[in-house]
Amino acid sequence: MPGTVVIGSQFGDEGKGKVTDFYAENANLVVRFQGGNNAGHTVVVDGEVLKFHLLPSGVAQEKRILIGAGVVLDPRVLKKELEELRAKGKKFELGIDPRTHIIMPWHNLLDEGREESRGKTKIGTTKRGIGPCYADKAERLGIRFEDLVDKNRLAERIGAIFPVKLAILEKVYGLKVPFDEDSVLKEYSKLGAEFAQMLCDVSLEVCTTIDKKEILFEGAQGTFLDNDFGTYPFVTSSHPISGGVSIGIGMPLNKIQRIIGIVKAYTTRVGFGPFPTEQENEIGKHLVEKGNEFGTTTGRKRRVGWLDLPMMKTSMRLNGFTELAITKLDVLSGLEKVKVCTGYDVGSKKIDLFPYSNKGLENAKPIYREFNGFKVTGKEKKYSDLDKNARAYLEFIEKEIAAPIKLVSIGPGREETILK
Ligand code: GDP
Ligand code: IMO
Ligand code: MG
Repeated sequence: MPGTVVIGSQFGDEGKGKVTDFYAENANLVVRFQGGNNAGHTVVVDGEVLKFHLLPSGVAQEKRILIGAGVVLDPRVLKKELEELRAKGKKFELGIDPRTHIIMPWHNLLDEGREESRGKTKIGTTKRGIGPCYADKAERLGIRFEDLVDKNRLAERIGAIFPVKLAILEKVYGLKVPFDEDSVLKEYSKLGAEFAQMLCDVSLEVCTTIDKKEILFEGAQGTFLDNDFGTYPFVTSSHPISGGVSIGIGMPLNKIQRIIGIVKAYTTRVGFGPFPTEQENEIGKHLVEKGNEFGTTTGRKRRVGWLDLPMMKTSMRLNGFTELAITKLDVLSGLEKVKVCTGYDVGSKKIDLFPYSNKGLENAKPIYREFNGFKVTGKEKKYSDLDKNARAYLEFIEKEIAAPIKLVSIGPGREETILK
């Protein structure tokens, strides 16, 4: 059976949670493979709003859920999310890979300290300790889930790491550190004991069942936040592009057959960094208000703008989407004209792909194609029910990106979804 991966094609918040939940109905397993609780994925079922930061959104469909080795896991956040779900009466089974790195309290402080010290070159991180945790993983100064669940190993790792972190926090960032080695060991070994039965070799489970089961892999963040291929340094520290699923799980590339690109019908971005089609005007106001564009994780107002085809064509090249899911089409409803960027004027040149460097975007002036506005009520059931101007917009996007649209989302609810 094919493995399916859901990928954010833009800067995150495209509606991956909603689409994952929709397709999870037919899946046996739903798996996260990168990122951490910097993610905020929203699922709306019968009017009930569920927000997930760490757990795969398939939990809303009460599927078996897994967290792969490529994720960074904050056990305090895990505890809270599990408690919230239990309080809602949800049934779930969760497996966590022993290789998954743990976000420790010093990672959150380091994230904050670093952001403050960046001054004008701030990234606008979620301050969830994501970057420092991935950095420690590469530096081999990390604590993994296998250590968290074993008190002796945890004591050994904390003993080796804590003094280094304390010195940096106090001496480099001048921060007051509200914990010590003993308090961290006490709290985290307790959390480890709570989660011990969830230890599961996710690589093994996925690889030995993917030929028999339907597995859905849920990406977090978006393509242009990829640590290598995004708008560096205004990126996250993991690999949200489709290739990330192989190293994030420990699974051969040929196990994935379906790559779904989630495309918001316009563009949003949280945090700093280039955004050529940004609209800081009445159009922007419409998109923020109608789209309720406030971050799921930090509550920050999202920056908004028109859909950017140079971005999308580059996203297609980086991810190899086999199909697209267009979300939030309803948010464009009511605008007199809808624009889409088809290329940029950069000095004397015209370009139609997103440049590899932010420098290439300096003075880039978007070239727009204009479409007649349309109405979307949210009650449309079939593709043919959609306003013909809306279909013209979608079909232009499909042709330009060169991947078929298979799903159109016209509202946050599970039922506000059209299959094409
Ligand atoms: P994710 O991070 O990619 O999962 O996206 P978020 O959940 O952070 O942000 C998407 C927001 O848009 C959430 O509040 C969703 O409930 C909402 N949403 C998803 N699809 C649609 C849609 O088609 N129309 C509208 N109006 N809202 C949507
Ligand atoms: P989902 O999965 C949107 C952004 C942050 C910041 C940059 C780096 O909900 O789409 P980090 O905390 O990761 O070091 O921050 O990345 N960012 C997101 N933006 N959606 C997300 O996740 C994001 N996760 C991180 O705002 O600009
Ligand atoms: Mg989000």
